[in-house]
Amino acid sequence: MADGTIAGRGRVPFEITDPERIPSKRYYDEEFYRLEVERLWPHTWQMACRLETIPNVGDWIEYNNLGKSVIVVRTSEGVKAFHNACRHRGVPLTEGGHGNCKTKGFICPFHGWRWNMDGKNTFVYGRHMFSEGQLDEADLALRACRVETWGGCAFINLDDNAPSLRESIGPVADRLEAHGMGNLRAEWWYATVLPANWKVGMEAFMEGYHVMRTHPQLQQAAPMLYNMMYGMDTGGIGIPINPNLSVRDNIKAQYKHLGLLSDGMAGMVHPKEVEIAGQLLDVELPEDPAQAVPMWYGIVQDQITKQLQAKGEPVPDLNAVAVSDPINAVEFIFPHFFLLPFFSSMSSYRIRPLGPESCLFELWSLTMYPEGEEPDPVMEPVILPYDSDQFPQIPRQDYSNIPIQQKGMHAEGFEFMRLSKDIEGLISNYQRIIDGYLKGVPQDKLAAANQKLGGNFDGKILDLGF
Ligand code: FES
Ligand SMILES: [Fe+2]
Repeated sequence: MADGTIAGRGRVPFEITDPERIPSKRYYDEEFYRLEVERLWPHTWQMACRLETIPNVGDWIEYNNLGKSVIVVRTSEGVKAFHNACRHRGVPLTEGGHGNCKTKGFICPFHGWRWNMDGKNTFVYGRHMFSEGQLDEADLALRACRVETWGGCAFINLDDNAPSLRESIGPVADRLEAHGMGNLRAEWWYATVLPANWKVGMEAFMEGYHVMRTHPQLQQAAPMLYNMMYGMDTGGIGIPINPNLSVRDNIKAQYKHLGLLSDGMAGMVHPKEVEIAGQLLDVELPEDPAQAVPMWYGIVQDQITKQLQAKGEPVPDLNAVAVSDPINAVEFIFPHFFLLPFFSSMSSYRIRPLGPESCLFELWSLTMYPEGEEPDPVMEPVILPYDSDQFPQIPRQDYSNIPIQQKGMHAEGFEFMRLSKDIEGLISNYQRIIDGYLKGVPQDKLAAANQKLGGNFDGKILDLGF
């Protein structure tokens, strides 16, 4: 509708009435899933592709979600997107994959009609057999889909009335930009099919509360960090320092933690960054660990900045951006994309529903390269079974919970998940925004609520303003 309200508002089954309780049927009920397909997904900004996969004019790549296929193409006027259906009898012009259309354009496989990269029809076989009114130029042009580029990615939205990408995601865009997100390139890309609702997948990354049990290696490497964050006897997020250890042992523990994050996550902390940290284990530091550890991180960030910049990598001044644009352990771009930044590299994730109880889970390792030394773009994910030991350790540990949690949702008597009001708030906030879409809350209000999601990792249940 013209006022940006999503059509078809109405009753929402299994609506959240207590923000601390999420009804379990939202994760498998067919009707709830159908409402998400109709009222949520077509109105959201979806990360469709990484821009390095379409570097040259004419390069295109297809994005598919929930039966809607969109072709994203680099033209001489920038990135455009088209709904993937021939204007003759609807056959998709491409079936998955990627290519370059500069010389031949898009050719329909059924009767051979053609379009150029700007969506203009360039060939109709046997034109004289059609009424003139059926071949109107504007009407034959491919239907454009909204697309915006940001952070090294193209995002599409099927709704012409939705607020812009920027209005929809808010200040998280500035933070990630300051950290050089747009300069990152994919080093590798994995995908797996998980037997779970897409929201179960997303929510496994919305709190660090599960680290103690799910990723014990991380907790063991920095026990004080996790005890301070989630333990009984301390409040708030503290600096991960063990006052009972010497400065050197504290630094060694920090270094070990970085190594585990790198082994487990590749791009999140890159091996080249761990190596630089390893050169700095003996730097002069104050005797008080409470001063020494943050100072050590400052030195590490300074050296990562300088050494990688000296190699020609477009790394921002990490200490400066840590002050000007502090970033969170996980940054979410509603509905299905999120990033884990640390120093100069990041991991990124995208989760697409394949059915009420199945999702496609993708994982990219992103890092920077000196200009001209970027590797060839990674064009397709390596698809692995979710229990493959080729996955890094940390996602493998997460994948071990996600499918079994899905099973538990069906248990007799399990009617709702109960959430911590203080640290699992992001799950509630996300789910209540979904209800907002399903109920037909005006999209400007949904965008304002979306903006509150950024920075809410390990956060509180928020008033979303609707
Ligand atoms: S359906 Fe595409 S040319 Fe006929
Ligand atoms: Fe995890």
